[in-house]
Amino acid sequence: MTPMDMLLTRASTDLLAEPAPSEAQLSEILAAAMRAPDHGKLRPWRYVVFRGEARPALAERVIASMLRLDANAPEFKIEKRRKRFSTMPLVLGLGMHLLPNHKIPLWEQEIAVGAAAMNVLNALHATGFGGIWVSGDITEDPVLAEEIGFPAPHRLAGFLFIGTPEGDLPAPKRPDPADFTASWTGKPVTFAADRS
Ligand SMILES: Cc1cc2nc3c(=O)[nH]c(=O)nc-3n(C[C@H](O)[C@H](O)[C@H](O)COP(=O)(O)O)c2cc1C
Repeated sequence: MTPMDMLLTRASTDLLAEPAPSEAQLSEILAAAMRAPDHGKLRPWRYVVFRGEARPALAERVIASMLRLDANAPEFKIEKRRKRFSTMPLVLGLGMHLLPNHKIPLWEQEIAVGAAAMNVLNALHATGFGGIWVSGDITEDPVLAEEIGFPAPHRLAGFLFIGTPEGDLPAPKRPDPADFTASWTGKPVTFAADRS
């Protein structure tokens, strides 16, 4: 696979089986995250590894968060989350170590975390693994964030479910990049993607 093939064949999947990356493999994958662009070298990304029994323990915290946010959360949603967080081969918590009063604005810090997460997803694909980034309202729950290790102003950016893809990766039709690109000629640009 050429590097471009690698980038152009990556797809998210939650159909994930064992094995998960070993500690050494995960360390190499996360080394790719350390290459993300990062204004001010703030390194705002943080990774929390949930393996083995840490996964059902996390699942219980996630369910407590769901019920905190909605005491009437439907049972099927609770059970879906319990199963996913308990059984994914590896769950990686994405943390954002944020400095609200820093001269580098918060949005720049947050998108650096996103850029690093994208490198993790690409590195997973490049090493034969796969994953998906999930969030949901629990990601905005400051209690859950604190329980995991991110007291305010720090936050969660979601979780990566990680493992070995089962079967072929999904191959959804991707948009034409031309629809998202415009050349500036002195007037404000518009994009085909925004025209109905
Ligand atoms: C910040 C963020 C949060 C996301 N949260 C969810 C989520 O909670 N559930 C979900 O099914 N997909 C979520 N997604 C989308 C998937 O990670 C994934 O991008 C999507 O399924 C499309 O697959 P693709 O990455 O192959 O294009 C999220 C993506 C991002 C960037």
